[in-house]
Amino acid sequence: MSEDIRCPLCGSKTTIPTTKKGQNIGGQFHVCTRYPECKGKVAVESQNGEFVQVADSSKQASAGIAIQASGLVKRYSEEVLAVDGVDLNIEANTVYALLGPNGAGKTTTILILTTLLQPTRGSASVVGFDVVHKASDVRRRIGVTFQEMILDVELTGRQVLDYHGRFYGMKKAHRKAKITELLALVELEEAANRRVSTYSGGMKRRLELARGLMTEPEVLFLDEPTLGLDPQNRANIWDYIRNLKEQRGLTLLLTTHYMDEAEHLADRVGIIDQGRIVVEGTPRELIDQMGSDSIRIAGQGDGEKFIEEVRSLSFVQTVQMGDDLIQIGIDTGNKRLPEVVSLANNCGFVIEDISVTKPSLSDVFLKYTGRQLRDK
Ligand SMILES: Nc1ncnc2c1ncn2[C@@H]1O[C@H](COP(=O)(O)OP(=O)(O)OP(=O)(O)O)[C@@H](O)[C@H]1O
Ligand SMILES: [Mg+2]
Repeated sequence: MSEDIRCPLCGSKTTIPTTKKGQNIGGQFHVCTRYPECKGKVAVESQNGEFVQVADSSKQASAGIAIQASGLVKRYSEEVLAVDGVDLNIEANTVYALLGPNGAGKTTTILILTTLLQPTRGSASVVGFDVVHKASDVRRRIGVTFQEMILDVELTGRQVLDYHGRFYGMKKAHRKAKITELLALVELEEAANRRVSTYSGGMKRRLELARGLMTEPEVLFLDEPTLGLDPQNRANIWDYIRNLKEQRGLTLLLTTHYMDEAEHLADRVGIIDQGRIVVEGTPRELIDQMGSDSIRIAGQGDGEKFIEEVRSLSFVQTVQMGDDLIQIGIDTGNKRLPEVVSLANNCGFVIEDISVTKPSLSDVFLKYTGRQLRDK
C-alpha cells in the first residue's frame, strides 16, 4: 500500500508506504529535492499521517529557503481582499523588503507569516514549518517588531527585555547575558535603566529591535522598522539591520513604504500593490530595467556644436534637446559627468545648471501599477 503526499518543503509529490489501514509508516524519509546542496540533510519524515521536517531547521535555513509562501490570500470581508495571491521564496540569510503604499497588504502578509492571522487560502512556511499547522515551531524560531510600537513605557529598557525573556521561558543567566549583549548591539546601555517613556522614537525602535532578538530568532520580521524616524535614526537602524544579516546570519523580512529603505537594505525587493506582488528582483535589477541615467544640462553658448560632440562620446546613448534643456542618456551618470563638463568647456558652452537623474524604485512602481508610489 502506498500514498502520494506532497513534501512541505519542495512541494513535489512523494510516494510513501502505508499500512493496510492507510496510515503512513513512520520513519520513511523523503530527501527534499529542492535542496540538493544539503546532500540529504534536509529531509521530511512521515509521522502519524503527515510529513514533518526532521532535519535541524538551521541546517535547512543555511541550505535554502527560509520563508516560503504560495498563493497566499487574506480576505477580511466581502469588500476587503487584503492579500490576493502572494508567492514568496526568500533565501536564508538575506534581507527581503516588501515595498508598497498604504493598504497594499504588507502588514497582513507579515501577520500571516508570523502565525498571528490565518490565511483565507494558500500556504506558507518559515524555516520549513507550516505557519498554520506548525505555528508553535514557527514562533520558537522567529522574532517580530510590529508597525505600531508595543512597549510598556512605564518599564525600563532593561525590564522590557527581561520580561520578554521570561515570557519565553529563558533561564535567568541566559537572559542576563542576552540583555547585556543586545543593549550593547543597539547602543542603549546608558539608557537601560531609564523608563521607556523618556526614550526618543529612535531609541524605542532600537529597543524593539533588541526585544525581537531576545529569543535568538532565525528569522526576524520587521514591519515598518523606521516609520516616523528622522533620517539619522533611520540610517542607524539600517546599520543594525545590515549587521544582523552579516554577523548573525539572520534572514530578515521587512516591510516599508520608503523606497530608499528598500533600495539600501534589501537583497531582494517585492513591490506589492493591492495585495499582489507586481514585480520582484534585486534593487539593481529592478532599476536597471528602467533604462539609463540621464544628465540634464541648461546653459548658454553654441549648443548645436556641444550636442554634436556629445553624440560622438562612446557612452552616450541618447541626446535630446528641449527648449532650454539638453538631456543626455548615458550608462552611469555620476561617472561620466566630468567628461561631459570638460567637453562643454572645450566647445565654449557655459553650463548654468546640471543634474544627474537616476531611475528609482518609484519609477519601477509607476511602470507596473501606472500610479506613483505614495500614500493613498
Ligand atoms: N483587521 C482588519 N479588518 C478589516 N480590514 C483590514 C484589517 N486590517 C487591514 N485591513 C485592510 O486590509 C488592507 C491591507 O491592510 P494592511 O494593513 O495589510 O496594509 P499595509 O500594506 O500594511 O498598509 P500600511 O502601509 O498603511 O501599513 C487595507 O485595505 C486595510 O484597510
Ligand atoms: Mg502596515
